[in-house]
Amino acid sequence: MRVVLGVSGGIAAYKACELLRLFTESGHEVRVVPTREALRFVGEPTWAALSGNPVTAEVWDDVHEVPHVRIGQRADLVVVAPATADVLAKAAHGLAGDLLTNTLLTARCPVVFAPAMHTEMWQHPATRDNVATLRSRGSVVIDPAVGRLTGADSGPGRLPDPAEIFQVCLRVLAGRERDLAGRRVVVSAGGTREALDPVRFLGNRSSGLQGYALARTAVARGAQVTLVAANVSLPDPAGAEVVRVESAAELREAVLEAASGADVVVMAAAVADFRPAERHDSKIKKNDAEPEPIRLVKNPDILAELGTLRGVAPNPKVIVGFAAETHDVLANGQAKLARKGCDLLVVNEVGPHLAFGTPDNAATVLVAGGEPVEIPRGPKEDVADVVWDQVALRLLRHPLMPADT
Ligand code: CTP
Repeated sequence: MRVVLGVSGGIAAYKACELLRLFTESGHEVRVVPTREALRFVGEPTWAALSGNPVTAEVWDDVHEVPHVRIGQRADLVVVAPATADVLAKAAHGLAGDLLTNTLLTARCPVVFAPAMHTEMWQHPATRDNVATLRSRGSVVIDPAVGRLTGADSGPGRLPDPAEIFQVCLRVLAGRERDLAGRRVVVSAGGTREALDPVRFLGNRSSGLQGYALARTAVARGAQVTLVAANVSLPDPAGAEVVRVESAAELREAVLEAASGADVVVMAAAVADFRPAERHDSKIKKNDAEPEPIRLVKNPDILAELGTLRGVAPNPKVIVGFAAETHDVLANGQAKLARKGCDLLVVNEVGPHLAFGTPDNAATVLVAGGEPVEIPRGPKEDVADVVWDQVALRLLRHPLMPADT
């Protein structure tokens, strides 16, 4: 595929080198179109050497090839990373003072913007309006990540991880539908930790990979995503708001808060059913005494609680649970679907070498009042897509109001 990588003048321009490498190494033909300001951060020889193509910010070079029109016309995808407040404003208003803005005006392919700027600039009403305009025209604008910015500042405005921007671009290139546009979804991922003392906990083996794949695919399908992550050490999916939690109690609080006003909640997290009755304030010492048994108390069942709230505004309309079973997978799953009162339950078999920590998964989606849907073994992104297909079907009963779009 022919990809145009637009780079505008922000310090994150150096991270676009990594994005460029991901495209070229996966066989894409990349033409880098920097702005003049971007070239102050990373020079033309770097882009030319990494892309194997000529590089200029101007419309006056190689005029006989009419580059200001041809580059955009021929592209299968234009991705601007980093996209500064300035380039977003120019794109929203159709200015065409350099090669990148000309390219954006002539491109008829999908366009992805990955903004990076200081929090104040991202939150300024002018930028908000420009982003809304670009999105209303069908461009994908990835929300920036939250974290350390240039200097001592931190907040929303960081360029997401290049590998995550690449994933969004691949999905846009694959032409997946944006059937979750205008929807707010909450995904929980990972596994909770229940503290015994300041250094020890009861936990589980969940890696968070399936939950992160759900968040990533939901962003690509146009949803506004809150990802509640329990003890996951994976890069933040581009465009998702990530809330980090540790225990089941913290996860419950974060999920219920995000669920208010959301359309969908997917509980992919492995939540501890029990927690130690007592949390020691200081480290438990072994001494010479016999070990004390650990007394456990029940944690609240968050999925069941969501099930009781479902559908009454502002509560979510569609609730999805996950169940990991070691035996009698379907029978246990059907019983759990009924018990927890959710719309869909994704069941998979777990055991040695199955599901945990692996990039692949196989599952069955149990449907309240419907036939089960088998998902053959494949990447966790594919499993996520089947789940979102089923969710999107259910959301058809709840059309978006014009104010939501
Ligand atoms: N879950 C939850 N709150 C809990 C425990 C689980 O919301 N305290 C959610 C999980 O996120 C998952 C689903 O419930 O979506 C299934 O969890 P699981 O522990 O397998 O179900 P249980 O009802 O605890 O059944 P089991 O007897 O198999 O442990």
